[in-house]
Amino acid sequence: MNEKVPFSKPYRSKNEAKFIEQVLHSGKTAGGGKFTQIAQQQIQSSIGGNCLLTNSCTAALEISALLLDIQPGDEVILPSYTFPSTANSFLLRGATIKFVDSQANHPNMDLDHLEELISEKTKAIVPMYYGGVSSDWSRLKTLQEHYKFYIIEEAAQAFGASFKEKPLGSLGDLAVFSFHETKNISCGEGGALIINKRDWNAPAEIIWEKGTNRAAFKRGEIDKYEWVALGSSYVNSELNAAYLVAQLEESSTWLEARKKQWNYYFEQLSCLEEKGVLLPQIPDFANHNAHIFYLVLKSPEELQSLKIHLSENGIDALMHYRCLHKSSYFKEKYVGKPLTNAEKFESRLLRLPLHSDVPLDLIITKITDFFKAR
Ligand SMILES: Cc1ncc(COP(=O)(O)O)c(C=O)c1O
Repeated sequence: MNEKVPFSKPYRSKNEAKFIEQVLHSGKTAGGGKFTQIAQQQIQSSIGGNCLLTNSCTAALEISALLLDIQPGDEVILPSYTFPSTANSFLLRGATIKFVDSQANHPNMDLDHLEELISEKTKAIVPMYYGGVSSDWSRLKTLQEHYKFYIIEEAAQAFGASFKEKPLGSLGDLAVFSFHETKNISCGEGGALIINKRDWNAPAEIIWEKGTNRAAFKRGEIDKYEWVALGSSYVNSELNAAYLVAQLEESSTWLEARKKQWNYYFEQLSCLEEKGVLLPQIPDFANHNAHIFYLVLKSPEELQSLKIHLSENGIDALMHYRCLHKSSYFKEKYVGKPLTNAEKFESRLLRLPLHSDVPLDLIITKITDFFKAR
């Protein structure tokens, strides 16, 4: 039997093994070394701000919550259709979470329903960019200027994407990225925090280094380091940084290739719209990064049949998030309105394989065959 087409596969870059070997050879495998600095500079040069490389996007979110000094009673608004880390990081600091619904035609948060959730206790809003698609920043900025809250860009999936000409990650007070194995570019486990407020650079570095001023010590600015604030273990290893540097070197070429695959799926599958299938809707202001190609099926039953049909043909297609407001952890605590769009994406959104070895024509044929037979 032929090998199964996996849903995702990490991109392989030319220099990753060489750079990892250099780190092993140097004997300096902990964080904060040469490759961490190179990766941070590479990310800063494409996004701006100040970058701290972290061991995950979750870590970057947790640093954000500490930097904002979230306290019990503070409210944080985020979409329900996202990964648990988006909520956990603020709940860990005692925040009250308010979940906003997705848009009818896109999993991103619905800005039409955001304003009704804002109160004088709102400390932060966390727009998650599903599939690397930007939220409408003209509207977010207007709301921020009026109500005065912080914005943390939840850009776990959005490296390389932009709002108009502005890179995602450059617009919020803070931004977080993931370089987990499943992301466009990856290093096993890894992430980044972008700090766009100069005053926060020093405190962020202390939180990142377990609440100590070790980073300043390593730069030779002080002669010993000590515990100076609350923090945790958020620094990534040099091995992951070396892997990431090799990936970052090729990120624009890979992004271009991925976009071609995404566009091909879109062109070849747009005929399904007449069968009631929704394809990804990209607003004019968003320049996305082809992170996810998905179909929104007419019903949960149609999704299950297509998923089984693809699996029987050796193709791994996956659903995505379980809505957080209905999760086993949160459902008893949730007090808001039904979030029907988020629930629709939970039960009807199916992601198709997208990686360097993806047999696009085979997958497209199997999908169109499925719909011909219906
Ligand atoms: C939107 C979102 N945020 C955060 C994360 C967590 O990322 P990490 O595994 O880098 O902590 C994920 C995981 O895929 C995610 O999808």
